[in-house]
Amino acid sequence: MAQDLLAQNQPIRRGMDDLVVDTTAISWVDGQHGRLFYRGYRVEDLGKNAGFEEIAYLLLCGSLPNQQQLTSFTWRLRQLSHTPEKIIRILQELPRHTAPLAALQTALAALGCTDPGPKYSEEETLLGLAMRIIAQTPIILAAIYRLNQGASILAAREDLSHAENFLYMLTGKVPSPQHTRAMEIALILQMDHGFNSSTFTARAVASTLTNMYAATSAAVGALSGPLHGGASEQVVEMLAEVEEWGDVDSYLNHLFARGGKIMGMGHRVYKQTDPRAVVFEGLLEELSRGEREAKDIKTLAYIAERARARFSERQQSIHVNVDFWSGAVYRRLGIQPVLFPAIFAAARIVGWCSHIIELRQNNRLYRPLSMYTGPVDLPFIPIKDRNK
Ligand code: COA
Repeated sequence: MAQDLLAQNQPIRRGMDDLVVDTTAISWVDGQHGRLFYRGYRVEDLGKNAGFEEIAYLLLCGSLPNQQQLTSFTWRLRQLSHTPEKIIRILQELPRHTAPLAALQTALAALGCTDPGPKYSEEETLLGLAMRIIAQTPIILAAIYRLNQGASILAAREDLSHAENFLYMLTGKVPSPQHTRAMEIALILQMDHGFNSSTFTARAVASTLTNMYAATSAAVGALSGPLHGGASEQVVEMLAEVEEWGDVDSYLNHLFARGGKIMGMGHRVYKQTDPRAVVFEGLLEELSRGEREAKDIKTLAYIAERARARFSERQQSIHVNVDFWSGAVYRRLGIQPVLFPAIFAAARIVGWCSHIIELRQNNRLYRPLSMYTGPVDLPFIPIKDRNK
């Protein structure tokens, strides 16, 4: 087959650039116009007007819930928010420096081993599984973070919402309404994003008809790479580096001279500013009070401006992406940079589960082709005759 493709001069889409491999009704990234839709709604509108549970329902079930549906969904999610003791023991055994996403990947795979009812094909069961995974992810992440910080692990509280609980379990304090809203918006903005690498991974793994735990833990593995989910932490590191270099221009000269990339800029699909970045920038401004915080915003804005000028000199259409401002927002919420990439997972878990449910309605095994470029029909050489 590979030889046939070669003979037919078939184009190879390395990195699957511009390749359409399936349909989805969950989200649409309109890169040309810098727009993102969840089930037809603009993500900015959803962030402004709705809560985490409401949008999780929208993505998983296909439409916005009415009050009764939302109350029942929220109640079920809370019932599933107990601390998974066996998983916590596994996390405690991991080296303290384990990256949060590596620990989450391990924990989700382990969570699958503790699920007593492995019935994965029925729709009701799939939704129940998705809700268990979504409810457990912030609990696991908070435990990972508290272990990393040398603090004691906190259980979720029944009287708090999903976003409130996440912040409470991370910081040990019941968050203010402003901080809760900021976390809720951050989670909503990052719930889904077309066929990004981790979502594609979740679908490819799920297409073998394996279970949802295997597919979501594989997706976390894909997210853990710096080209996908690690940039928010590195943007905050960039702020420290700029301070070391003294000014933005010297830092950029140095970065570009060694062929480095500016973290939080560029995107495979967006040819305009990422709409999520605009919301994050607004959130950062709302949360910033002091001089130090104002300085960070100014420095980031100046980096973006100077970098854009350089990119346009090279005729490159590179803009800020979702990770450019998000790290600074999380810092305002009292969270340390080590967790930033993993907060992405607490949001994207909703998208991954929604995609697995969608795929199961009309499953097709993902199995692309590769172009073989090695030799064929080589004669076997016995070991004694090799390297002579
Ligand atoms: N800083 C500097 N140059 C960048 C850049 C950045 N952040 N993003 C892209 N470029 C340049 C590349 O150097 C390349 O230049 P060249 O053609 O002269 O070699 C060109 O733009 C294309 O980049 P490439 O990495 O091939 O594009 P992509 O579609 O694969 O890139 C990303 C998408 C996200 C991987 C890339 O923009 C990137 O690495 N960004 C930084 C990491 C990041 O913010 N990740 C979070 C994504 S939400």
